[in-house]
Amino acid sequence: MITSNELRRKYIEFFKSKGHAEISGKSLIPENDPTVLFTTAGMHPLVPYLLGNPHPAGKRLCDYQKCVRTGDIDEVGDAAHLTFFEMLGNWSLGDYFKKDSIAYSWELLTDPTWLALDPRMLSVTVFAGDDNAPRDEDSAGFWKDVGVPEGRIAYLPASDNWWAAGPTGPCGPDTEIFYWVGTGFPPALSNKGTDPKNWMEIWNNVFMEYNRVDEKTLVRLPAQNVDTGMGLERTVAVLQGKTSVYQTEAFAAILEAIGEVSGKVYGEGPGLDHSFRIIADHVRSATMILGDSKGLSPSNVGAGYVLRRLIRRAVRHGRKLGIEAPFLPSVAAAVVDIYQGPYPELAGNRARVMEELAAEEAKFSETLKAGEHEWQKLLPNLQKNPQKTVPGRVAFRLYDTYGFPIEMTEELATEAGMKVDKEGFDAEFKKHQELSRAGSEQLFKGGMADHSDVSTAYHTATHLLQQALTIVLGDHVAQKGSNITSERLRFDFAHPAPVTKEELEKVEAIVNEQIKRDLPVTMAVMKLEDARAAGARALFGEKYEESVKVYTMGDFSKEVCGGPHVERTGVLGKFRIQKEQSSSSGVRRIYAVLE
Ligand code: SER
Repeated sequence: MITSNELRRKYIEFFKSKGHAEISGKSLIPENDPTVLFTTAGMHPLVPYLLGNPHPAGKRLCDYQKCVRTGDIDEVGDAAHLTFFEMLGNWSLGDYFKKDSIAYSWELLTDPTWLALDPRMLSVTVFAGDDNAPRDEDSAGFWKDVGVPEGRIAYLPASDNWWAAGPTGPCGPDTEIFYWVGTGFPPALSNKGTDPKNWMEIWNNVFMEYNRVDEKTLVRLPAQNVDTGMGLERTVAVLQGKTSVYQTEAFAAILEAIGEVSGKVYGEGPGLDHSFRIIADHVRSATMILGDSKGLSPSNVGAGYVLRRLIRRAVRHGRKLGIEAPFLPSVAAAVVDIYQGPYPELAGNRARVMEELAAEEAKFSETLKAGEHEWQKLLPNLQKNPQKTVPGRVAFRLYDTYGFPIEMTEELATEAGMKVDKEGFDAEFKKHQELSRAGSEQLFKGGMADHSDVSTAYHTATHLLQQALTIVLGDHVAQKGSNITSERLRFDFAHPAPVTKEELEKVEAIVNEQIKRDLPVTMAVMKLEDARAAGARALFGEKYEESVKVYTMGDFSKEVCGGPHVERTGVLGKFRIQKEQSSSSGVRRIYAVLE
């Protein structure tokens, strides 16, 4: 049986024997690329070379690479989708092209000295052609040359067989290789085009001849390149005769660790198994991210936010398996043991991985406890609703007051035979101008950081501003309104006269001083009376729940607030007041920006 370690080794050995230099070992967090949060494909670090820069290691390259893709988050838990995966890749930078690329793939996959897969179980797809590029008869012909029968070749459109690294950049038609995961042997005329369900993609060879400059313009690259990516986990599954990546040996130890902490057994029921798989996948991803050389931590922005969501979703599914005690570090230990060979940085960062996981798990357990307690209180009333719908307003309050994620509310609702009014929730969200749900989904898709990060930063800046105003103008400064867009903050407050230029300068300087001090922003859930006793600012006349969240920014500010906020004030940049004007009688208004 070929294991993950052996597949990695064989792949590299094969391509080395064909004159390729190994370039493995890149970080999961891309360098110099603000458009993505993680390395999402093995080719990612190669973009500059595919565009024409010479690579120091030559024109034939190969590697194994850590990747994180979170676009498929909703599908994680099924048999094939993973948020962390390894990609094996080989590249030709203007050296060989379609013919050799196809011949190499076929030899590695089917030759008895290499992977020895049964050729009858393989099928391929090629590009059907469109306005951008012609039908790829060349590739089809080269597949026939190596012995692939006509009936196993499908011509598919760009949605299937055109690969691009992003909205702009190197791209081209691809040819993909599939393995039969249906029962028995595939019928003679079966391929991905005629039976998409039973064919699992294992390898993708992209023929990168083009550079997309903008939406309308495709130009030819200086050279004809090859970029291939083989999914390690899927290929191991087919090599081991399994239909799911979770049945392979790399996952066995992780699932076993989950079994130990939960007292449940993987394979006992679809509901349980789903949670097992989600925990296995998410803890594996979180461990690889935390153990990466770049040293990322959970946070409320960017890649740190994706990491936080992975950890928190794992904790939630731990609860579904009945795990109450902290368990992430013991599952992570299994992950480190398996992967520290090919990824030695994991061994070096072992302590850090365990500490960060334990801290985030503890933090989130508190949040869950408070939110679930509140949910139980609300449930009897909610169940009286004839439509069996949880109003958006209620879901939002759970989120806003307890930090209870909407997915959690949705899961609890499903368990109680109800559903959540998501539209209502979204509308509430917009109304409160918080980190938008749409924004966070976008972020979680592994895509770009967006305006929601900016809104969070403005929200934190608003707290600093209010405290600075109190210091400069006096205690009578009470918040009368606040509005945040991705461009600026607007803050209304009680004050009897226009604020002078000198006063505004002082306020600005104080806020910038707190940013420079890079104060930690921390949150605690407490009883409203305790919050007031601790000196937290709360809005006068506002109705609060019994338990509230209190955000503290170093020694500078303490406020009752739903959040979210940035983790440290240092990320805010430079604070500048744009305008001060009257809002209504006795109320002044300030517009300010972060630069
Ligand atoms: N770029 C292709 C992929 O990610 C092959 O490496 O599938």
